[in-house]
Amino acid sequence: IRYELIEESRYNEILDYLKNHFHDEPLNMAVRLFEKGETCERLEEYDLNTMKDGLSYVAIDSESGRIAGTILNGISHRGDVEEELEKMKSIDDIKFNRLMGLLFTNNADVELFKKYNVDKIFELRILSVDNDFRGKGLAQKLMEMSEQLAQEQGFTLLKVDATSFFTQKICTKLGYKTMKSIVYKDIKNENGELIYDVPSPHDTYKIMVKDISRGPKKV
Ligand code: ACO
Repeated sequence: IRYELIEESRYNEILDYLKNHFHDEPLNMAVRLFEKGETCERLEEYDLNTMKDGLSYVAIDSESGRIAGTILNGISHRGDVEEELEKMKSIDDIKFNRLMGLLFTNNADVELFKKYNVDKIFELRILSVDNDFRGKGLAQKLMEMSEQLAQEQGFTLLKVDATSFFTQKICTKLGYKTMKSIVYKDIKNENGELIYDVPSPHDTYKIMVKDISRGPKKV
């Protein structure tokens, strides 16, 4: 497996890959944003904008040339989340708003910019590994490479919206800490029905961060 920074020439290929390999992200399964092979315009726009920050990686199987996995990382600035929440009010996409609304609302709530006194946060946003390549540590490797890139680019804080139990496992191993923890089954509508019926073992959404301000010094 080789790892490459995602360049503009690969944007479409990555979006195509995600259509077939991100549908089983836990929250996506819960709100059924899109099925395997399908797409969601607003999610693609989010993915594309993230790739444009130039901090995303793709893992390629050297033998076949196939994409084995990817991590899309973006920069979050003070006020971005509040702006997104405002935008949602005028855009009528119930599923997308239900999914991203949960993330944005809770992110606004934890006030990371204030707590850590930073102006930008390195966000590890979309993590996906092709089924054929899962369980071999690729996701962890993509996250480790992202951390190194963040360090090189002068970021002091990493953040993951860990919607998957597996991502939480990796984050914990890499030294992230949990800033907020939301049990999916605790979120109900006015009729007492579950809003996010997420399949096991993904029972919790965690906002996880890693302070890298005292990371390895540059030589
Ligand atoms: N069952 C049990 N444990 C699992 C499974 C599984 N199906 N998959 C991964 N794990 C565990 C591994 O054992 C490992 O823990 P360990 O080191 O204690 O053994 C840990 O999770 C990470 O394993 P990796 O091999 O690094 O993960 P992998 O390369 O298989 O990719 C991923 C994991 C990205 C979550 C993959 O399953 C996937 O693409 N899922 C669909 C999309 C998704 O859910 N993405 C994450 C959402 S959160 C976000 O995007 C920020």
